[in-house]
Formats: sequence, C-alpha cells, structure tokens
Amino acid sequence: MTHSDTDTLRAIQHTERERFIASHPRSMALARDAQQHYLFGVPLHWMRDWPSPATLFVAQAQGATLTCADGVGYADFCLGDTGAMFGHSPPALAHAIGEQAARGLTCMLPATNAAVVGGLLSKTFGLPMWQMALSASDANRFVLRWARAITARPQLLVFDGCYHGAVDDTLVDMDPLTGGTLPRASVLGQVHNHAAFTRVVPFNDLPALETALKQGDVACLLAEPALTNFGLVPPDTGFWEQARALCREHGALFVCDETHTVSTALGGYARAHRLDPDFMVVGKAVAGGLPCAVYGFTHDMAERMVQAKNAAPEGHSGIGTTLAGNALTLAVLQASLEHLHTAANYAKMLDLASVLEQGLRDRIAASGRPWTVTRLGARMELQFMSHTPRNAQDVRDHAQSELEAFTHLFMLNRGVLLTPFHSMMLVSPATTLNDVAQLLAVFDELLAALRALPARPATAPASRSA
Ligand SMILES: Cc1ncc(COP(=O)(O)O)c(C=O)c1O
Repeated sequence: MTHSDTDTLRAIQHTERERFIASHPRSMALARDAQQHYLFGVPLHWMRDWPSPATLFVAQAQGATLTCADGVGYADFCLGDTGAMFGHSPPALAHAIGEQAARGLTCMLPATNAAVVGGLLSKTFGLPMWQMALSASDANRFVLRWARAITARPQLLVFDGCYHGAVDDTLVDMDPLTGGTLPRASVLGQVHNHAAFTRVVPFNDLPALETALKQGDVACLLAEPALTNFGLVPPDTGFWEQARALCREHGALFVCDETHTVSTALGGYARAHRLDPDFMVVGKAVAGGLPCAVYGFTHDMAERMVQAKNAAPEGHSGIGTTLAGNALTLAVLQASLEHLHTAANYAKMLDLASVLEQGLRDRIAASGRPWTVTRLGARMELQFMSHTPRNAQDVRDHAQSELEAFTHLFMLNRGVLLTPFHSMMLVSPATTLNDVAQLLAVFDELLAALRALPARPATAPASRSA
C-alpha cells in the first residue's frame, strides 16, 4: 500500500476503535479492573491479540453465539480458535460434566469408561492405540519424545511456518538464505539451540523434504496436513502421497497433528485422505473444548514404545502430566465422541461452510479485490492475496497486517467474530444460515468501506503474532 492508502486505512481504523469504545463501556471497565491483577490485563496474554482497543469480556457463549459483557451478541466464527468447533457448551457435554462432577474428578486411575472411550477414539480417528494429555502442546511434546526414543534418532523435521503449540523444538523458522534452522525470534526465554536438532523445510517442497530426510537421522516429520497457523496453506495434489513415501523410505516416522485439520471431515484430514500416519495428535475440539488432547498410534508403534519404556531405567519418563486422562475428561470425551464427532454434524458444517465460501468468493470477484478464500472442510480463510499460498514464505510476502486488523475490528463492531490470529472462519453445527448471511452482509459493508483504497496487491510484508 502507498503512504496515503495506509493513512486512509488508519483513519477508518481510528473510527472503528472509537466505535468499539463507545459501544462496550462494560468491557472497557472490566479491562481496567483486570489490569490490576493480570499481566497485560488478561488471564492469558494471547487474549490481548484481538484488534479491539480493549479486550472483549464474555458473559456467555452458547451454540455459535457469544454474548459480551455489554450484552452484544456475536455470530462466532472464531469458536475458541477451534476448541468450540462443535459449538459452545453443547448440551450433551454440559450434561456429562454435571453427571461426572458428582462422581469424582480425578483419581490417577482410569475410570470405568476408559475402554469404551479408547474404542470410540479408534472408531473415530482410525488408529488402534491411544494415550491422553491435557493440551495439544503436551501431546505433541510427548509424541516427539516417543519418536526419538523408539527410533534412537535425534532430529525432528517440521515445515516452515508450522505451529504445534508451546513445543520448544518446533518454535523455529527456516533461514530463507541458507535453508537452515533459525530460532523463532519472538520466542521468550529460549536458551537451547534447536537448530542442532530440528530441520525446517518449506511446505509443498518435496526435494527439500527428501534432502532433509536422506541424512538418515530424522526421528519424525511432525506436520499438519495443511498449514493452518500461518495462513491456510493446503497441500499440493499428490504432495502427501510422496511425502509419506519419502518418510517410509528414509525410516522417519510421520506424526500428523490434526488439532486444526480435524475440521476437514469426520476423523480428520489424515483419515479422509488416507495419509496413514504413525502417530496422530488431536486437541482442542476433541472433547468439545474441555482441556484434553489425545494421541493415537499404530500397533507397530505401540510395540516399540513398550520396548523403549521397558528398556529404560525406573523413573520419570518425561511423558505425561498428573491430570491427563482424568475421570471428568474421560466422561466428556466420551460424550464428545458419541454426540459431536458425527457424520451428521460434519455434513451440516461442510454444507454451510461451502455456502459461506461461495458467498465470499462472489463478493470478492464483484469487488475486483485481489483476494482469495481458501477452505479446508469447515474452516476457511480470507486471504489478502490473489492466489492460494503454497508455503509460509508466500504468506509472508503477501501479509497485510493493518488491513487484517481493520477487517477484524470492523466485523467485531458489527457482531461477527473472526479468529484473531488471521482471518480464519470456522463453521460449527450450531452455526445458522442467518449467521452466514450476517457475515456476508458485514463483508459487503467492509468492501464498501474500503472503496477509498485501490484494489492492488500488498507490497510490504508484515509481522505476525502467535
Ligand atoms: C496444529 C496445532 N497443534 C497444536 C496446537 C496447540 O494447542 P494448545 O494450545 O491447545 O496446546 C495448536 C494451537 O493452536 C495448533 O494449531
């Protein structure tokens, strides 16, 4: 954008900020109160990553509707950044929580439904063996440990632009000049040199993947089937078939992080596209948003994991946390697998997501803006570039952080929530055609508000928060 475009955008963004302040007096007051006791004024500092002048405080979230402290209702397309992908507080989960809360929360012993839940996990996601964790970050960390333990190989392989949670080994970037591994500059308090043990290659780049694997020292490739945290970047046709074959050829395990791509289809992307992973991680929405993550693996992996554990001296494995697999989580996970992870729910989500995608595409085409929409099942992203990105560098090259922030606040001020980290929209079974119509009407207003800005591609890369 030119300087005058940027000035215009800042001026209209200023108006949006004033509008938020005027219409959210209660959130503004709560933000001031919370400032006294919380770092950055919020229980988790990411909650300040929304583009509003103060944090939106939530009074209630039900179905696909969120109501803020000021009584304003929002069509929620953020859905807790996937945690609430099946809608907020589904009745089946609320019931299971109530029932189990009266029968014990955590015992360091399996509840009587453990075997049933294991069976449901297998039926839903296709892998026979399972372990539990409290978050996808934890699950990924544990799987990396298992992968290194059973292969006796030190190296990890990830894609540039990946995000697998607060997992130190993966918080790295690719040096665009050398192809080497760089510490991610934004990570706080990092003293370990992950360049020594993590390789990074561009997504959709089979030759780079092969080069990284063929040294024969990679324990596993940890990957999302599509990048979802650095803009939505889908795999090229045939990419995974060949990537999977390369992993096998070079003795590296394939760990599929389905935490976000579970939005693709019932059972996740890997199941729908037969990626045949050695390990799979699912967090966030697996138990409808209650803190829970699971990792599944093949019988072959299970055998090797048992051997590794039995061969190790007595003591801490470095895998697991006290509350993982607790009775409350198991009860809720059972309800979630039985009532939320269903073909009927996915059919509803995918149908409505395609209506939203088409509505956005039609409007973009009519406006002449060089933007696109990329969709993966129930998840889609508005991208301020004319083509679907192929890798993280492509996203960096086209980033427009000010336009993105404006879009988010503009929509929030008109009752529509997008995911704060990028312009991601998720459709839940509770989302209605009215919610979609509301988003599209606000998108029309957004395009009208941006008419003063010329429809030209971005030139300046922008920083991202995560
Ligand atoms: C693909 C993926 N894996 C893992 C995580 C970590 O999830 P959590 O923050 O719940 O640990 C995230 C979080 O956004 C994610 O997107």
